Amino acid sequence: MITLGIETSCDETAISVVRDGNVLSSEVSSSVELHAQYGGVVPEIASRYHTEYIYSVFKKSMDDAAVKPEEVDLVAVTDQPGLPGSLLVGKAFARAISYASGKPLVGVDHLHCHILSCFIKNGKFMLAQDMFPFLGMVISGGHTSIYICRSLSEFEVVGRTRDDAIGEAYDKVAKVLGLGYPGGPVVERLASEYDRKDPIPFPRALVNEDDSLDFSLSGIKTAVMYHWRAASHAEQEKRRVCFSFQQAIADIIDEKMKRAIKRTGLKRIAAGGGVINNAALRQRLQERADKEGAELFMPEKEYCADNAAMVAVMAEKQFGRT
Ligand code: KG4
Ligand code: ZN
Repeated sequence: MITLGIETSCDETAISVVRDGNVLSSEVSSSVELHAQYGGVVPEIASRYHTEYIYSVFKKSMDDAAVKPEEVDLVAVTDQPGLPGSLLVGKAFARAISYASGKPLVGVDHLHCHILSCFIKNGKFMLAQDMFPFLGMVISGGHTSIYICRSLSEFEVVGRTRDDAIGEAYDKVAKVLGLGYPGGPVVERLASEYDRKDPIPFPRALVNEDDSLDFSLSGIKTAVMYHWRAASHAEQEKRRVCFSFQQAIADIIDEKMKRAIKRTGLKRIAAGGGVINNAALRQRLQERADKEGAELFMPEKEYCADNAAMVAVMAEKQFGRT
């Protein structure tokens, strides 16, 4: 079975071809540089970019996979959540391919796909039926949530952010420090360059107060802003802020994962999304999993951020044979 995956929920135009769980191609073209000057994604620019590039990304993906359009058995597209204009471009393109080829079209949830991206190992989708139920965490620029994943069609939200997403907090902190967009990679780099001395005690909301699995990130962002206004603006202070911020984020994620395991008794966890690119956070998650005797799955680097392989494997597994 050959599945075409299409993902345009934000600023990446992504198309992938998957055959029986094997990723034959995964093409991603990002408009991130066009948004950098605005300090965040501009929806109108993202949709125009998708419209301009989606056909060439499709062509490249099909060529890389050495698959012809008539060989595709199933067309899969992200249908929620995302920027409405961006989603529309992917869905219209998917519908056109489906109509022209006479092959079925299915829509999938972007966040569920981020969780399933954890199970693509060396180009093969490795999620077996008996691995359910497990815990899913999505930590991205737009979302921060914890799920109980019972089956490919049952994802129960047990925790979510009440305000900003973690990736968004990284981006906002980077903006305050004048580090450009997207903020995650540069904040991670500066944090790793700090000598760990005298960290700033930024707030860890919803960590001490109750046993909630929810997140709240707006307070830490504001605390960074006030700290920076009064600070020396020296390069070393920038590194100290990045380190202290990242340490607070790591503590928050660590605590939420510990609680989720305790509350549900589930000892298998899949944590995906763009923020999982971060080596320090990956290490903290792994340490927590080891302490709890839990099995942790995280995506390989190329599947952390938005991609279409996760869309195709999800649809192929969920909808099976055509
Ligand atoms: O999953 P993603 O590509 O898009 C959404 O669906 O939101 O995630 C993008 C987010 C951005 O906020 C970006 O700053 C963050 O992931 N990010 C990182 C790192 N690399 C990307 N955050 C922390 N550390 C990183 N190394
Ligand atoms: Zn995403």
